[in-house]
Amino acid sequence: MHNRLGSLLAILVLTVAIVYQANMAQSLYRTCVPTLWQSQIFNRTVPLASSLYSNLKCITSSSHSSQPLTRKAFSSSTMASQKSFMDAVKTRRTYYAINKQAPISDDKIEELVNDTILHVPSSFNSQSARAVVLFKDEHDKFWDFVIEVLKPMLPSEEQVKSSTQRINGFRAGYGTILFFEDPKIVTGLQTKMPLYADKFPQWSEHTSAMHQFVLWTALEAEGFGCNLQHYNPIVDQKAQTEWNIPQEWQLKAQLVFGGRAGEPGEKSQTPLEQRVFVHGK
Ligand SMILES: *[C@@H]1O[C@H](CO)[C@@H](O)[C@H](O)[C@H]1NC(C)=O
Ligand SMILES: *[C@@H]1O[C@H](CO)[C@@H](O)[C@H](O)[C@H]1NC(C)=O
Repeated sequence: MHNRLGSLLAILVLTVAIVYQANMAQSLYRTCVPTLWQSQIFNRTVPLASSLYSNLKCITSSSHSSQPLTRKAFSSSTMASQKSFMDAVKTRRTYYAINKQAPISDDKIEELVNDTILHVPSSFNSQSARAVVLFKDEHDKFWDFVIEVLKPMLPSEEQVKSSTQRINGFRAGYGTILFFEDPKIVTGLQTKMPLYADKFPQWSEHTSAMHQFVLWTALEAEGFGCNLQHYNPIVDQKAQTEWNIPQEWQLKAQLVFGGRAGEPGEKSQTPLEQRVFVHGK
C-alpha cells in the first residue's frame, strides 16, 4: 500500500514536470521565436520589418535552448532585429544631417517598403497607400525638381538662397520615399458606404501617416537617419511625369533617408500628465 502510493506520487511528479517543461518550451517558442514561427511553420513571408515586431532580447536570453534555429531564422538579421518594437519607436528621431551612405542594401530597403505596403493597416483594408522609392541619382533628381519649382515662387534672393540650402540638405541623402494615396479607392469606398462618405478622405490621411511612420522607424532601426518633408503639391506633376506615376494619385509626404552625418536635436516634451489619462486601472 505504502509502495503503491509512493510510485503513484512519483508518476504524478514526473507528469507535472514533463507537462511543465513542454508548456515552457512551447510558450518560449511562441513568444521568443515569432519570425521562425511565422516563416518556417506557416510558410509566411517574413518581413524584414518583422524584426521590429520581434524582440531579440528575448531570443538572446533563450538562445541556449534554440540557438541553431534562431540563428537560421535571423540569418538576414540587420540592425532592426537588434531592437524591440518599442525601442525602435523610442529612438526614431528627425535627422537633418544625412549623407549618401547606406547601412543596408537597396534590396533590403525595397523589402521594407514591400512589407510596409503589405502589412500596415488601412481603413476598411482600403489599401490606398502607394509608395515610390527613389535611390541615388533619382533621389537627387527629385530634389532638383523641388528647387526648380520652388525658386520662382520665392519673393527674395535671400529666400531662394536659404531654401536652396535647405533642400540641398535633403538632396545630400541617399534616397527618398514618396507616399501617395490613390483617390479612386477613396471615392470607391465613399460610394459603397455613403454613411461614412465624409470620413474616408480623413482616414486615407491616417493610412498614409501610418505607412510613413513605419518606414521612418524601420529605416532608422536599420541605421539610417530620416526626415519627413511635404513639398506637395508643387512638385507632384513634375514627379508624376518623370516616374510614370498616375496623375490622379495624391502625394502626401516625402521621407528622406541617408547615412547619419550628425545627431538629432533636443526633443522637448509637454508633461505626460497633460497628455495621458488612465481610468479603471
Ligand atoms: C512549407 O515549408 C515546408 C518546409 O520548408 C515545405 O516542404 C513546403 O513545401 C512549404 N509549403 C509551401 C506551400 O510553401
Ligand atoms: C517588392 O515587390 C515587387 C512586386 O512584387 C517585386 O518585384 C520586388 O522584387 C519586391 N522586392 C523585394 C526586395 O522583395
